[in-house]
Amino acid sequence: MAVLVTGGAGYIGSHTCLELLNAGYEIVVVDNLANSSTESLKRVQELTGKDFTFYQTDLLDQEAMEVVFKQNKIDAVIHLAGFKSVGESVRLPLRYYHNNMTGTLVLCQLMQEHAVKNIVFSSSATVYGMSDSVPISEDFPLSATNAYGRTKLMIEEMMKDLYESDPEWSIALLRYFNPIGAHSSGKLGEDPNGIPNNLMPYITQVAAGGLNELHIYGSDYPTRDGTGVRDYIHVVDLARGHLKALEKVVSSKGIEAYNLGTGRGYSVMEMIASFEKVTGQRISYRITDRRPGDIGVCYSDPSKAERELGWVALKGIEEMCRDAWHWQSNNPQGYQKEKPILFTGIS
Ligand code: UD1
Repeated sequence: MAVLVTGGAGYIGSHTCLELLNAGYEIVVVDNLANSSTESLKRVQELTGKDFTFYQTDLLDQEAMEVVFKQNKIDAVIHLAGFKSVGESVRLPLRYYHNNMTGTLVLCQLMQEHAVKNIVFSSSATVYGMSDSVPISEDFPLSATNAYGRTKLMIEEMMKDLYESDPEWSIALLRYFNPIGAHSSGKLGEDPNGIPNNLMPYITQVAAGGLNELHIYGSDYPTRDGTGVRDYIHVVDLARGHLKALEKVVSSKGIEAYNLGTGRGYSVMEMIASFEKVTGQRISYRITDRRPGDIGVCYSDPSKAERELGWVALKGIEEMCRDAWHWQSNNPQGYQKEKPILFTGIS
């Protein structure tokens, strides 16, 4: 069975490709390398010892995407390609709508034309907006507070309409909580552009000496220690969740949303303490104002994914911190993004 992975060179994509190959799937990767490099895919190939086809292609390029569908017998799609920075989406909303919405539209149109109707979509816990209670389950009200979040929400809505129009579709909407960590080999990990927006890559860069100190965004939230609480999930657990969702979409029809989280929340202070404990590195920090748009507490009820997909997150917070540091310390410059090169087939 061949699975098309869009955004397969990215942080979650590369870990998902590795799990797919290890599980025996044939994969076809499409990525425009806007926020990634071919180095991650080379490492996936090295780690698995398996070849696969790669297209440096933009989903917005309908003709090039048509070629992907014509040259490969695709059975299912895992759709991860998209812009993901909240702040950038506020500054450049049209860019986000164009890229995320139109890219998905082109993909779904081609899938329909080629009778490929199984898709796992990379959504986000951001679709719960400013949820006022926890744990968050899939039936909570949906909303968005920024353009990035709205693209995720609108794509979910688009996919619901698609299913309504044609019940042959089979769709899983995966709502990720906070993916962190890295592959245990230290060869795959998160490689953000510029100064990281998210907590864990910021912590690892402070530990590595590239950044001076962490700014903790607020210590007056109604939480155990006043700092924000999130549901951090190991990226390898998350990747495995995609395989479980894939099994589900190829074996039954319908559209379902699933939370992928651990169901446990950790505060910023607890994250720093865990990181320091397992790595022996000191993290300097300073408390600053709250970040606009942040909520105090966010964690999942992941029981639907356990019930319906047979998936649970297995890795704990210390493993997440250890693997994040292993990756960062082995790759201080990340993947050292090379100039994009065009090739098909990694060998
Ligand atoms: C952020 C995005 C969210 C997106 C998710 C993807 C915002 C407002 N939200 O979520 O839409 O789906 O990433 O991974 O950007 N923190 C600090 N100092 C930092 C960075 C973060 O104190 O330098 C705190 C935050 O206030 C929060 C926690 O750490 O309490 C986690 O932050 P982050 O990693 O950015 O994730 P989210 O805000 O949950």
